[in-house]
Amino acid sequence: MSKIKISGNTDSTRPNLIASAELFERGKRVITGGNTRLAISERPHPIYFARGTGVHLVDVDGNTYLDFLNNFTALIHGHSYRPVLDRLHHQLERGLSFSGPTELEVEFAELLCGRVPYFDQIRFMNSGTEAVMYAIKAARALTGRPKIAKFEGGFHGSYDPIEISLDSTPANWGSRSAPNAMPYCAGMSESVTADTVVLPFNELGASREILEGNKDKLAAVVIDLLPQRVGLVPMKPSYLSFLREFTARHGIVLISDEVMSFRLSFHGGITRFGFEADLCAFAKIIGGGLPIGAVGGPSRFMLAFDSANGKPLVPQAGTLSGNPMSMASGITAMQSLSEQDFQRLDDLGEYARSSLTEMFRREGLPYSVTGIASMFRIHLRSEAPKDYREAYAAPEQQEKMRMLVWALQGRGVIVSPTCQLCLSTPMSTDHVDEMVTSVRAAAQMLEAA
Ligand SMILES: Cc1ncc(COP(=O)(O)O)c(C=O)c1O
Repeated sequence: MSKIKISGNTDSTRPNLIASAELFERGKRVITGGNTRLAISERPHPIYFARGTGVHLVDVDGNTYLDFLNNFTALIHGHSYRPVLDRLHHQLERGLSFSGPTELEVEFAELLCGRVPYFDQIRFMNSGTEAVMYAIKAARALTGRPKIAKFEGGFHGSYDPIEISLDSTPANWGSRSAPNAMPYCAGMSESVTADTVVLPFNELGASREILEGNKDKLAAVVIDLLPQRVGLVPMKPSYLSFLREFTARHGIVLISDEVMSFRLSFHGGITRFGFEADLCAFAKIIGGGLPIGAVGGPSRFMLAFDSANGKPLVPQAGTLSGNPMSMASGITAMQSLSEQDFQRLDDLGEYARSSLTEMFRREGLPYSVTGIASMFRIHLRSEAPKDYREAYAAPEQQEKMRMLVWALQGRGVIVSPTCQLCLSTPMSTDHVDEMVTSVRAAAQMLEAA
């Protein structure tokens, strides 16, 4: 890795970001908020990247970074993965998108249905947000019921009902055992809040009570087995077992949002826990770096989208849904992910978590680590959080986290604004060691300050 250039800093911990700052100023004139993605809207400005290769990213100022974010987990093979690039070049010469389906779409659907034991069928769309939205629409259409249930703090994209209680605060979240349903964005109609039931993550007794009270109105329970904003804490198997049994008994559709947690195993996220969902929404890694989303499941649930006999219960279109570039990229990325690759990522993830935990203990740093498989998150508290409320960062903690993220950028490591990290297949223990060394230096600096 080439050394990071640290000169002309406007902030003592971030690298030289003069060209990034200039681009942000330029962007602000024509892009509302300066850039298009909220998740990367760092203050005072984000880092603008110029290129990426393997585990490395280079920004527009020429700084090189070890990328432990991989476009928020989407790039499981890192950057510029040669087999995907070759396949895309090949497809580029044949056409970018058509007003008709391609063999690639069929091939990709066969590949994914072949991998996930409970999938009979799949449909493609362009983002995880769309995938979750269509799964919810299907659940409502199939059951004729209006409500959905989700976990407090859980992020599932930008569809109104699933945004409820995404950023609840101590001032409004109510009791732990019966969390309030709080609107997320301005202008949300009251009916959206009324139709979303909020569950306390991993709390079996309290969740049972809430679900019992709503069972006749519930179309779906939307779960994430490793919800990032809930602290990247894995779901307890006993809790998942309860949700699976309860939803099946009451004709409620169990939707597994695997936009991130499809990373958990070769056969999909929920399969790792020994269960099956009714519908699965996924995206990110299956696009190989290009826009994608998909809903899959048994035919009896997927029939909500079936247009064979005319208008389906849930019409799903999309000018670029199933486009050949995303299909080609996705097929290649997934073909290049064997069961052994998942095992290696699991082992490396375990190595990363234990190395960080051991380093925090040795250095007396009051930090902890959560996560499983290839994903992990660093928390600014000595005891790992168990749910959204424990993972919740008050404003002063958010500020401290921002300083840590900046100090890591200054030491050449990219992580998410909440200090979520993930692995890519080109990574080795050397990259993990390098990251741990940077985290130690950044944390020590932060604590000394
Ligand atoms: C669990 C989960 N669901 C849904 C989404 C939305 O996916 P997209 O950004 O592709 O719309 C995300 C995005 O990070 C996610 O993490």
